[in-house]
Amino acid sequence: METRIRPIDESSLAEAKAILENGGVVAFPTETVYGLGGDARSDEAVDTIYRVKGRPADNPLIVHVHREYDLKTLICDEQPYAAKLRSRFLPGPLTLVYRSRGKVSAKVSCGLDTLAVRVPSHPGAQRFLRCVDMPIAAPSANVSKHVSPVTAEHVYTDLQGRIPLILDGGACIGGIESTVCDVTGDIPVVLREGLISREQIADVVGRCELYVPVAGAQVRSPGMKYKHYAPACKTYLFAADAVEEAVQKFCSCEEEGAKVFALCENSVSRRFPADRVLNLGDTGEEMAARLYALLRRGEQVADVIVAVRPRGEDGIMAGVQNRLGKACAGE
Ligand code: TXA
Ligand code: MG
Repeated sequence: METRIRPIDESSLAEAKAILENGGVVAFPTETVYGLGGDARSDEAVDTIYRVKGRPADNPLIVHVHREYDLKTLICDEQPYAAKLRSRFLPGPLTLVYRSRGKVSAKVSCGLDTLAVRVPSHPGAQRFLRCVDMPIAAPSANVSKHVSPVTAEHVYTDLQGRIPLILDGGACIGGIESTVCDVTGDIPVVLREGLISREQIADVVGRCELYVPVAGAQVRSPGMKYKHYAPACKTYLFAADAVEEAVQKFCSCEEEGAKVFALCENSVSRRFPADRVLNLGDTGEEMAARLYALLRRGEQVADVIVAVRPRGEDGIMAGVQNRLGKACAGE
């Protein structure tokens, strides 16, 4: 199958719509990462998404809708605070998990009675969703477990020959995936940290918990148990206060003949040779926006990435630290 990258215009949107109406899948941009979308009502389309990505069959998908699409047709029994979160943060990088009305393919939620729904703010995503006017099931448009794509070229690298069309909306400005928040209970529970922080949710609702998986218990967000976001090269991750150890590791790998790159925040970058730095920048927003592109560049140029955690755990940094940890964790 030939994979075409096309800018978003009337002609490419019409092509996307025709593909989706025939049970096919297309990649499209969002403000977080690129998504691989199919008609959420179609078993065939959802099967194709799982097959194309090589995704484990027990990791449910997020349904994407545009603002006007009637949410009430998809979900039921909502908590009053969910509407507050929607009016504060949507469209935007916040996915809410509701009780499902069962109107989409059961394969979207892998048989769970909940449904994750997101309204992306990216103008290209909005245009795409309005044009096709159907609920779009979409995971990130990468091969399962690889680094999520933040450009059309990243999608092409992973899915070339497996999908017919990539709608090109430029580089994603957010850079890491949406925050996933379960709103089925009395208190919102963040299942995956992301661009909207727990603090921001608590500001609106009064409270917000972070889901911490308990060993042996059933996992509430199945995606959490898988290795994720990993570049193809070897990676080492050091704590923010272990820069000396990271420098030593950098040197010892180099002595063994490996091509080594350091991944770190700007203030630490001077500890490494300037032409061997994958620079995350200074602010949390910069680090989120750059992380995946740097990991993808790293796997092309380096045998080994020596990563140093940036400082900060709060706000957007919670999401950055989470993704960095998963990208650089061993099996
Ligand atoms: O920013 C994003 O969310 C991107 C763009 C494309 O929208 N999408 C994305 O999808 O990151 P994916 O499939 O890579 O991650 C979806 C996450 C997984 O961790 C999955 O377990 C969780 O959402 N999820 C989906 N449905 C769920 C449900 N019903 N209950 C709990 N977790 C759910
Ligand atoms: Mg993903």
